[in-house]
Amino acid sequence: MPLITTNEMRRVERLFHETRKSFVVLGSAGTGKSVLLRRLVETSHKRVEVLAPTGLAALLVGGQTVHRFFGFELGLQERTRLRITDAARRDERRRQSLASLDALLIDEVSMVRADLLDAIDAVLRDHGPRPGEPFGGVQVGLFGDVLQLPPIVKDHESQAFNGAWADGWPSPWFFDSLAFRSASFVRVTLNQDLRQCEDDPDVKRFTTSLRRLREGRMQPDDFALFNSRVTTRQPDGSVSLVTTNDDADKENNRNFNALETPVFRHNASRDENWPEKWRNEEPVPEVVDVKAGARVLVCANGAGPGLVNGSIGTVIRCDNDEVILLVDGEEKPVHRYTWEFPVWEWSKVEKRMLRTGTTWYSQMPLKLAWAMTIHKAQGQTVDGPMWVDLGHRVWSGGQTYVALSRVRRLGQLHLRRELRREDVLVERRAIEFICEGDTPPSFEEIRPLAAKIYRETRKVRDVVVNERRLAAVDLERSEQMMTHAESLLKEANVRLEASRQAEVRMTAIEKRVSAALDRARQISWLDRLLGKF
Ligand SMILES: Nc1ncnc2c1ncn2[C@@H]1O[C@H](COP(=O)(O)OP(=O)(O)OP(=O)(O)O)[C@@H](O)[C@H]1O
Ligand SMILES: [Mg+2]
Repeated sequence: MPLITTNEMRRVERLFHETRKSFVVLGSAGTGKSVLLRRLVETSHKRVEVLAPTGLAALLVGGQTVHRFFGFELGLQERTRLRITDAARRDERRRQSLASLDALLIDEVSMVRADLLDAIDAVLRDHGPRPGEPFGGVQVGLFGDVLQLPPIVKDHESQAFNGAWADGWPSPWFFDSLAFRSASFVRVTLNQDLRQCEDDPDVKRFTTSLRRLREGRMQPDDFALFNSRVTTRQPDGSVSLVTTNDDADKENNRNFNALETPVFRHNASRDENWPEKWRNEEPVPEVVDVKAGARVLVCANGAGPGLVNGSIGTVIRCDNDEVILLVDGEEKPVHRYTWEFPVWEWSKVEKRMLRTGTTWYSQMPLKLAWAMTIHKAQGQTVDGPMWVDLGHRVWSGGQTYVALSRVRRLGQLHLRRELRREDVLVERRAIEFICEGDTPPSFEEIRPLAAKIYRETRKVRDVVVNERRLAAVDLERSEQMMTHAESLLKEANVRLEASRQAEVRMTAIEKRVSAALDRARQISWLDRLLGKF
């Protein structure tokens, strides 16, 4: 299809090429934000860097992650003490490249957290071309849809985003960062659906229903349309989207077990001071099994030459030390990787997070990748069949919308279960941001209200997450009961079969006995008859 240029796209092009103004490009899924971003870079005479919050999203626009480019440590970026890795601090080349930077384009900004945008601002104010100015004088272009997935906040980080902490943020959204509120961003919204753009009336119905799902205005006929795609069998060759890492693991293990190649097991090692609260938050599992033929995702930057966090490949050979992947037709080796994490504790006295040390985790940085979570799929276009399993319940604003909007046509979509009203979650704070208009309020103005809304949203999410946990326990229990019942049934069948055979034998014996009796009777009758003679 030829490249379409709308008036809004032209406006973004003019802003980027002809001015130094920062801008934010909004628009629903598939309105061409990422394609426009790439086009700006390709036609630019500026020194521009392309970034995204996650490895997969960065790969889609040919960029790198925000963390990798700036050398930020993982986890919370504290405003009063910016956490840049030692290597990055020593890296003179990186500092020089920041000083000559003209523009920074960030895709999937809905998942960029407020602390991260403030950290970017702080580094550029120190090392950018115009020190002291917002973003160091670098033109910043943000691209994303705030009605898709919000940033991830781990339980131990939540105090930083609910107004409890004096140096914290009123919510985790990028637009509630000090940096966003202090710099003036021109806002442009793209409106034309390009992922699902055919003039076919069926495609139009699909896009209308998707739009209503995004805005939380679903009508009964929208539910009916999506639910006409429910099927209990996963279509062959489909990409599988699920809500949790656990569900992705189940699906991946099923595919993995079907491979008949030998298994190579890798066991993790970790710092003896690894915090207990981070059990189950490891970057890859404690045990990583690899087989030739497996589809895998690389989970670290620097795991091997030419590989980044987010690269997907197929294992062609492996042993206990090395795994050779086929990525885009090229063979690439992967080795064991060690992650380092700073440890933070919430200080009740100081009412802020305090750094208490560093810890590490080492493992083969690979995960199976036949199925992926909806969070990982944000930004992707799926061209073949897609199987969406919303599980027990979704818990995050935009989650169902992101899942269903990956395909171009309704016919590609297959749902494992019916869509229900509670699957349609829209973040209130995001709607407020969309409605702000041309004179956005300052950081201090939004702070109290935004914090209140975020606390309420988080409470709802916690209830849903807890419900999910309980439902998972119930499911596991009923699965165990089912297995037990199945084994009892099997045993009962074996016994029934044995008793049936015994019955057959009994009948045969009875027949023989009755025949013997008959013969005995005949003999005695004959005896008596002969006696008479
Ligand atoms: N200018 C364009 N002209 C024609 N087709 C386009 C254009 N831009 C995008 N498309 C089509 O729409 C699809 C989705 O585009 P893109 O990934 O840029 O959307 P997006 O707004 O970034 O979506 P998301 O919010 O899901 O990341 C592309 O794969 C392409 O097929
Ligand atoms: Mg995109």
